[in-house]
Amino acid sequence: MKKRIGVFFGGKSGEHEVSRVSATTVIKSLDKDKYDVVMIGITKKGEWLLYEGPVEALAGGEWEQKAKEDLERDPGYYGFSVMGGTGKKLTDIIDFALPIMHGPNGEDGTVQGVFELLNIPYGGSGVAGCAVTMDKIIAKEVFADAGLAQSPYIAFSSSDIEKGIEDKINGSLEYPLFIKPANMGSSVGITKVTRKEDLLPALRLAAKYDSRLVAEHGIDAREIEIAVMGNEELSFGAIGEIVPGAEFYDYDAKYNNDDSKLLIPAPLTEEQAASVREMAGKAYRAAGCCGFSRVDFLMDKASSEIYINEINAIPGFTSISMFPMLMMETGLSLPEITDRIIELGYERHSIKNNR
Ligand SMILES: Nc1ncnc2c1ncn2[C@@H]1O[C@H](COP(=O)(O)OP(=O)(O)O)[C@@H](O)[C@H]1O
Ligand SMILES: [Mg+2]
Repeated sequence: MKKRIGVFFGGKSGEHEVSRVSATTVIKSLDKDKYDVVMIGITKKGEWLLYEGPVEALAGGEWEQKAKEDLERDPGYYGFSVMGGTGKKLTDIIDFALPIMHGPNGEDGTVQGVFELLNIPYGGSGVAGCAVTMDKIIAKEVFADAGLAQSPYIAFSSSDIEKGIEDKINGSLEYPLFIKPANMGSSVGITKVTRKEDLLPALRLAAKYDSRLVAEHGIDAREIEIAVMGNEELSFGAIGEIVPGAEFYDYDAKYNNDDSKLLIPAPLTEEQAASVREMAGKAYRAAGCCGFSRVDFLMDKASSEIYINEINAIPGFTSISMFPMLMMETGLSLPEITDRIIELGYERHSIKNNR
């Protein structure tokens, strides 16, 4: 019997569109001799829809109209309930869940919690690993506790904005600053601030996305990323470097600007590469990651000091994304990477159920 792999894409997230492109790559890579692919799209409003149609309709968004029309025409076939209810259940239509969603409501442990409650095996990190890595404040505290170097930062709440947090930031962090919402991704809501008068607007912008905020010292840095896979035993992909085609690696530079360059492997000394791997393994374990993740670093251009920046529990999976390219550099094909993610998900599920 072929395993029915439910690939979840879209999501109620600022990274909905990116997810549809990532999921397209993942769906195409799944070995159809081994797996039946079940596509489940989550709209920006949060509706879960079974989609049967060409995978090419994901990226542009046409899938949604078709899924809605199909559901209206044949609710008995296309309809399902996520938790309880009557009729078909999610567990009737898939054996394994592969959430390929980025940002809130997909990469943050919420959707993983649904799979836990339903006891469906799933790919990638669990509730804790996703929640820790999605929240930049909690992640920083976990990294600090694991002894990993990071850029100086202050965590605060949006309610502190009109109450003197600017003075505290100005008094304790050196410019340039990066102002970030704690829970986002794809650089959404992030501003690089080089002048004091630009701080307040940057804080207000970040506060539009989250009430938990971070200010951190901006490093003149090389951006170094590594792919990690595994549950207990970890394996590492190649190390890559991003040379942003913009002032920093903002949303536009990530997805629209072709001037950003990816160097694979990153030009590093063997010693530097070894410390990137060591730090990545420590961070991955400390955050409780499973399956796969991409760990990102900032390497000070002047001192070559390496700082951890963040972990992406569900990294971009487009054909030009770092995670798949770094794993492929070690000789794995895309189908082998997705196979391994599924294997690791089943492994974790069986450990949980045999306790
Ligand atoms: N402390 C920092 N110093 C220098 N550049 C930074 C710093 N923090 C963030 N950046 C820049 O902003 C980008 C996005 O920040 P990041 O924390 O990775 O958020 P996201 O989760 O949105 O990817 C980084 O890829 C980098 O270009
Ligand atoms: Mg990042």
